[in-house]
Amino acid sequence: MAILVTGGAGYIGSHVVDSLINDGYEVIVFDNLQAGHRQAVHAQAAFVLGNLLNKADVAALFAAYPQIDGIMHFASRILVGESMQIPFVYFHDNVMALLNLLEIATQHHVKRFILSSTANLFDKPNVIPIREDEPLIPGSVYGETKFFAERILHWMDTIYGLKYCFLRYFNACGAHENGHIGEDHDPETHLIPLTLQVALGKREHISIFGTDYDTPDGTCIRDYVHVLDLARAHILALEALQDGQSRVYNLGSGTGYSVLEVIEAARAVTGHPIPAVVGARRAGDLPVLVADSTRIKRELGWQPRYDSLRVMVETAWRWHKAHPDGFAD
Ligand code: UFG
Repeated sequence: MAILVTGGAGYIGSHVVDSLINDGYEVIVFDNLQAGHRQAVHAQAAFVLGNLLNKADVAALFAAYPQIDGIMHFASRILVGESMQIPFVYFHDNVMALLNLLEIATQHHVKRFILSSTANLFDKPNVIPIREDEPLIPGSVYGETKFFAERILHWMDTIYGLKYCFLRYFNACGAHENGHIGEDHDPETHLIPLTLQVALGKREHISIFGTDYDTPDGTCIRDYVHVLDLARAHILALEALQDGQSRVYNLGSGTGYSVLEVIEAARAVTGHPIPAVVGARRAGDLPVLVADSTRIKRELGWQPRYDSLRVMVETAWRWHKAHPDGFAD
């Protein structure tokens, strides 16, 4: 079975590619290397440099690899805050690119599609942990682009029989235990890598965005989920789509950790004092975001294996220590 992985040179995509190859899949990575890294792509995966916004690139990809029968779509802009600064870029890159991909994929009768979706669809949850049936209220332009993506795929299923699985990630983190691939964003905005950059001497302190939230220690609580657990979920989802049922899953470890707890874990793992400075709240942050992942556990037998905060931070630390400047390219 040949799987197209768009954005397969990126953080989550590269870990999923590694898992797919290890499970015996033929993998074709398609990436424009705007945020991804060529070195992150497993040596046994085919690599195609191209842009989803250029329909000719997508057509050439499917002409070269007509055996593609499933797609995992990671290629996307991913920052909540940035999406409120440059909304047109987000709508363009996340929605238009998907339409190009789907137009060609449906012509080639692709029948399985895994979408990287997001917890940012749940801006006003009634119940926490958050289940799949909470109202979908995007918290940003970024979240809105994923909402559009889910709606577009709904119609692709109805019209073309393209079966989808939406995986709504909460806070992806950690790195591969082999130490070869990990998180390398530029600019970095995520809490765990930024905290570890302090331990590496690349930053003076970590800023805490608000200590006056309605949470036990006043800092925001998030559901951190290890990137290898996300990878496993993708493969289970791909296999499950064989039965012809589209699906939706919220994907987190199910435990919330506060910003202070994350920083404390990083201090314990690195042995560095990691100075922290309390700053203002960051616009758009919700106090608590924790997933209820009961559905994917029940239906697909998914179980997070790397669900302790310490292990998540340890694997990230191993990667960052060995690659303080990220990938070489
Ligand atoms: N934070 C800090 N200081 C920092 C960076 C982050 O205090 O320097 C805090 C944030 O305010 C937040 C928590 O740490 O409370 C986690 O922040 P991240 O930026 O690491 O992650 P987010 O929860 O904001 O966003 C992540 C993904 C998004 C996705 C969202 C879904 O990056 O793509 O989860 O909930 F949409």
